[in-house]
Amino acid sequence: MRYAEYRGVFYRPLHPRPTVIIASLCPDGKVNLMPASWNTPVSEEPPTIAVAVDRSAYTFQCLEHSGEATINVAAAEMADLAYRLGSVSGREVDKAKEFSVPLVPSEEVKAPGIDGSIAIYECKVEQKIDVGETRLYIFRVLRVRVLEGAVDEWGPVLSKANLLLHGAGRAFYRVDPKIIWAKKR
Ligand SMILES: Cc1cc2nc3c(=O)[nH]c(=O)nc-3n(C[C@H](O)[C@H](O)[C@H](O)COP(=O)(O)O)c2cc1C
Repeated sequence: MRYAEYRGVFYRPLHPRPTVIIASLCPDGKVNLMPASWNTPVSEEPPTIAVAVDRSAYTFQCLEHSGEATINVAAAEMADLAYRLGSVSGREVDKAKEFSVPLVPSEEVKAPGIDGSIAIYECKVEQKIDVGETRLYIFRVLRVRVLEGAVDEWGPVLSKANLLLHGAGRAFYRVDPKIIWAKKR
């Protein structure tokens, strides 16, 4: 194989990545919604999820204020919504109202979930690490709900609920529902 030096943005080859939408309660008393594709599970025990949040985002202030959030796994149908939510700041716009986002109450946290998400994680902030322009939040998962019938032992049932993967800018992908079964060892 031949390789060429890549002079583009270094993280392009790490995309597309699953998009989540963070819902958090803000100092102004409103719920703010922010898409984030720089997210990953971190540990099983305890169950944790990390998300890198730019410290200039309003969501950063909201997470510092409330210390909790819901992390909503976006479905492919939510591409327009995710793009819009990521194009304005909650400092200027009440995004939930402006984009008529259907919210569902949570049990373990005050922040609501987003109806239509494939999964809704109710989380509290457990650790924070500043890296460059972002704060990496390690969220402790307190409760998980999934869209009925949409997740099985292998992950999302893609014929029922496909994931929203973020490429770059307005470009999103869905997952090819054809499973590649690796040979049994
Ligand atoms: C699909 C998508 C994924 C994004 N992922 C991230 C991310 O992982 N971390 C981040 O800080 N910003 C990310 N952004 C940008 C923020 O969502 C954007 O700056 C947003 O307007 C911040 O909103 P807020 O100021 O209301 O918190 C993403 C944007 C889009 C459209």
